[in-house]
Amino acid sequence: MIQKCLFPVAGYGTRFLPATKSTPKEMLPVVNKPLLQYGVEEALEAGMSNCAFVTGRGKRAIADHFDISYELEHQISGTSKEKYLEGIRNVIENGVFTMVRQREMKGLGHAILTGEPLIGDQAFGVLLADDMCINQGGAGVLAQMSELYNQFRCSIVAVMEVPEDQISAYGVISGEAMGDRLYRVDKMVEKPAPEDAPSNLAVIGRYILTPDIFDIIRDTPPGRNGEVQITDALQTQANKGCVLAYKFEGQRFDCGSVPGFVEATNFVYENLY
Ligand code: UTP
Repeated sequence: MIQKCLFPVAGYGTRFLPATKSTPKEMLPVVNKPLLQYGVEEALEAGMSNCAFVTGRGKRAIADHFDISYELEHQISGTSKEKYLEGIRNVIENGVFTMVRQREMKGLGHAILTGEPLIGDQAFGVLLADDMCINQGGAGVLAQMSELYNQFRCSIVAVMEVPEDQISAYGVISGEAMGDRLYRVDKMVEKPAPEDAPSNLAVIGRYILTPDIFDIIRDTPPGRNGEVQITDALQTQANKGCVLAYKFEGQRFDCGSVPGFVEATNFVYENLY
């Protein structure tokens, strides 16, 4: 059973400036709940009660959000407004939250390596909060992947089909189909030109990683954009046949972009609020 989930939340969120100048992108609300809380709830639902945040400068609001606010508790205790705190109280009671700071933004691979002291020598989930995933009436995406991990015991990436004109925004996989929604990955390419993309299956921000990934990242030179890419490290694991790609059940919203964020907001307001 996977118990820990890593949340790389150190990025600058430049696409949301000026909102993200002094507010972490992950704390922007989709209706009335910060993006990151949706992610943490998904991890808790998957049994990953140990949430490890890789944060950076200017991200202290994240630590405060996953802690009690005594003034607030005191002010609204016993009033009709208390119900508004129930959701986050539940999260705080059911999770353990740890943090480490990534001092320089050197890419997702580097962010994951920065989280190593919080994870140790065990398989773990990785959730990018700006990919918001909802599977109405069914298990969340991390829970689906965790169940697969229990069966296959190797790294797993969540994938979805994307149109050709959008493929160069993603890591893209190719592999042999192992069933309805599962592939054994043989190739992973970060942000390929459409003509170089090995398939239309794009990796989104949900991973299960086995702990050997840390040594592999350490040995992985910076790739595209001078950043340490998790895609490159996963290719090394894939060369040994140890990476699966899973076409998840549910919907994914790209909340790292303004149109995706608006779409998610409308969806949540109409369906979940
Ligand atoms: P993004 O590149 O989508 O996020 O990284 P960003 O940099 O915050 O956004 P823009 O492009 O400037 O608008 C994907 C995820 O990886 C984290 C980010 O916080 C985000 O959740 N990340 C990325 C890190 O934690 N550290 C890094 O060095 C890079």
